[in-house]
Amino acid sequence: MKMIKSPFQILYVNNIMEKSIVSIIKPALDIDIDNPCNSHDIVLNANDSFCSRVSTVSGKSEKAGQTGNGSMAKDIPLNERIIFALDVSTREKAKQYVKTLEPYTRFFKVGLQLFLAEGFEIIEWILKRDLKVFADLKLFDVPETVRLAVRALTDRGVTFATVHGNDAILKAAVEAAQGVQVLAVTVLTSLDEADIRDLGFNCSVQDLVLSRARRALEIGCSGVISSGLEAPILRKELGENFLVVVPGIRPVKNVDDQKRTVDVAKAFKNGADYIVVGRPIRDASDPVAVIKTMQAQIQSVLSSS
Ligand code: C5P
Repeated sequence: MKMIKSPFQILYVNNIMEKSIVSIIKPALDIDIDNPCNSHDIVLNANDSFCSRVSTVSGKSEKAGQTGNGSMAKDIPLNERIIFALDVSTREKAKQYVKTLEPYTRFFKVGLQLFLAEGFEIIEWILKRDLKVFADLKLFDVPETVRLAVRALTDRGVTFATVHGNDAILKAAVEAAQGVQVLAVTVLTSLDEADIRDLGFNCSVQDLVLSRARRALEIGCSGVISSGLEAPILRKELGENFLVVVPGIRPVKNVDDQKRTVDVAKAFKNGADYIVVGRPIRDASDPVAVIKTMQAQIQSVLSSS
């Protein structure tokens, strides 16, 4: 049971399961609990109190600190800040990229294409080289299936796994995760305002990213996948104590499928902990040179902040 101790504390409702509580106080508040884009930020008077799973939040640093995998060491080495997306079709190609890039970057993402082709074998091969693996399978299914899938990823040495979905799906993932950090996909970086409208959401991308991130952290995810454009609002509203992993990195104005892009410097200035980079490295004539340039940019931002 949590009592509200000081006047006009800002509260946020953990997740959709608190609808029953919110419905009690809703008449006094201007919030729409059925709208998925609702920020769930509500203000109550000190005299109000109610029990159960409503979190009190008094300061930025606590906001995400109460959640999930708790406090998070952010002393991330420079050679792990760029997660290279191994978006290739065979283990031979993947191994070639790993061997070429491992002196410079030590974090590799295995996504749907490579995992479907090569399964756990390629993940194990990368891990045996003492490198880190992000299993980006964007799991999205009924909670029990996601629970079992996350369990299959557990205790294999994988650092991050991605899950997509509503509260029950994320909860199942977090409950099953042992030794793997669950990152919630907020809104894919290939989607813009018109795309989310097509999907039936009646709000801005930013509101949707924030709402999803807030709930993911309350549920216990270690962090979120977000574009660099929304990273500032996530840091402002949710604090520092969770991971923001940013794909959609493009050095210049973009022409491919990624729509919400930022460059390397902006991603870190805006609050990214890691960036995920695929094609700009994979398709470069000199991938090592691209990584080195990006790392110099990261270093410059981090040392000036
Ligand atoms: O080639 P590019 O740099 O666009 O690759 C980005 C990688 O990040 C891809 O592997 C893609 O699956 C992944 N990703 C993304 N947007 C997300 C989550 C993951 O682009 N929201």
